Amino acid sequence: MSIGNDYPAGFLWGVATAGHQVEGNNVNSDVWFLEHLPGTIFAEPSGDAIDHYHRYRDDIALIAELGFTAYRFSLEWARIEPEEGLFSTAELDHYRRVLEACREHGLTTVVTFHHFVSPRWLLASGGWEDERTPALFARYCATVMEHLGDLIDVACTLNEPNLAWLLRSFGIGGEPPEARASVPLWSAAAERLGIAPSRIAPFQFTVSQAGFDVKLAAHRLGRDAIRAAKPGIPVGWTLANSDIQAAPGGEERADRVRNEVNERFLEASRDDDFVGIQTYGRTVYDAEGLAAAPDGVSVNQMGEEVYPQALEVTIREAATIARVPVIVTENGLATEDDGQRIDYLRVALAGVRACLSDGIDVRGYIAWTAFDNYEWIFGYGPKFGLIAVDRATQERTPKPSAHWLGEVARTNGVEPV
Ligand code: BGC
Repeated sequence: MSIGNDYPAGFLWGVATAGHQVEGNNVNSDVWFLEHLPGTIFAEPSGDAIDHYHRYRDDIALIAELGFTAYRFSLEWARIEPEEGLFSTAELDHYRRVLEACREHGLTTVVTFHHFVSPRWLLASGGWEDERTPALFARYCATVMEHLGDLIDVACTLNEPNLAWLLRSFGIGGEPPEARASVPLWSAAAERLGIAPSRIAPFQFTVSQAGFDVKLAAHRLGRDAIRAAKPGIPVGWTLANSDIQAAPGGEERADRVRNEVNERFLEASRDDDFVGIQTYGRTVYDAEGLAAAPDGVSVNQMGEEVYPQALEVTIREAATIARVPVIVTENGLATEDDGQRIDYLRVALAGVRACLSDGIDVRGYIAWTAFDNYEWIFGYGPKFGLIAVDRATQERTPKPSAHWLGEVARTNGVEPV
């Protein structure tokens, strides 16, 4: 028995990665710098990651061989512009070879220009609260397009500009400028960079109004630079869209967080060509704040409820508010139990089909993530990958879920039993 094929021709079936999480040795970046400071909130350093920087050819071949039709990955700004205004042709050529490998294997390229990580020099100059940042980002986008634009099929400017507000509601980051001196990591960073702690504004943890304005302006200027270089290319940003719900007493808080995290970013997507939706589960607020997962439900490796039904809700919300086509640019589960991952994917895809059959314009489903990799502050513990990686030998081993979803991709939606 198989579930029928309800997907439009050309629907993108992909897997995603992000440079810093897989490439290794992104030593000129702000996140690498933060990983190594006293008081760091990163569980361990990213180090060699899974050495995708050198192994991309085999990795891309494997992704195509499994049946996928698209590969979403990010460029590392810190490699391409290692000092402000100094662009590295050698690094641009590296990414050209990555894109060519995708072409060789028939993969549509979905390229993220900024996935959380910035050059260290940007952090030193006020990061994502500084008014110069949007123009600097747009210049980087224009340079990338000049060198690589012919091989980029779909462009994502910023990844999850809204995540910082969701994380703050979980109690992670989000300190206002005047409170940053009391956070050991921010004060250590400020001391090393020789700037005031109030000016430490990394992408993932900054929630001020200036942070919102700078991200939005960077997205728009970057988008315009990309469009100018390649008219007709679909450009959008990719958002962290949790299904935000209220338990009794938490209605007001849930409404506030839903507006801060989802709605205002979706409204700001209306002039884009698509919006990327990245959903992992639901977030429930009660009178006290973030509610713990209810007793007895299954949880992921971070202790959050496994709730794949969230994807359908967030696609509908995005389509209604943004009124542009939707691409699911991330969706997945951190688990050591790969059977549980396949169950999760089945429910998530049922949600995608329900949206399609209601006429919602969903253009693709890109799973997070191709390989087990560096899960930011959680280090290498959580396993989101469809493909396992032995980090001692860097050997890759596709899990049953990789074969399962690859088959869905190959058949444009027919699910193996
Ligand atoms: C990010 C990924 C991350 C994933 C799982 C998203 O927030 O874009 O980089 O690994 O979720 O937590």
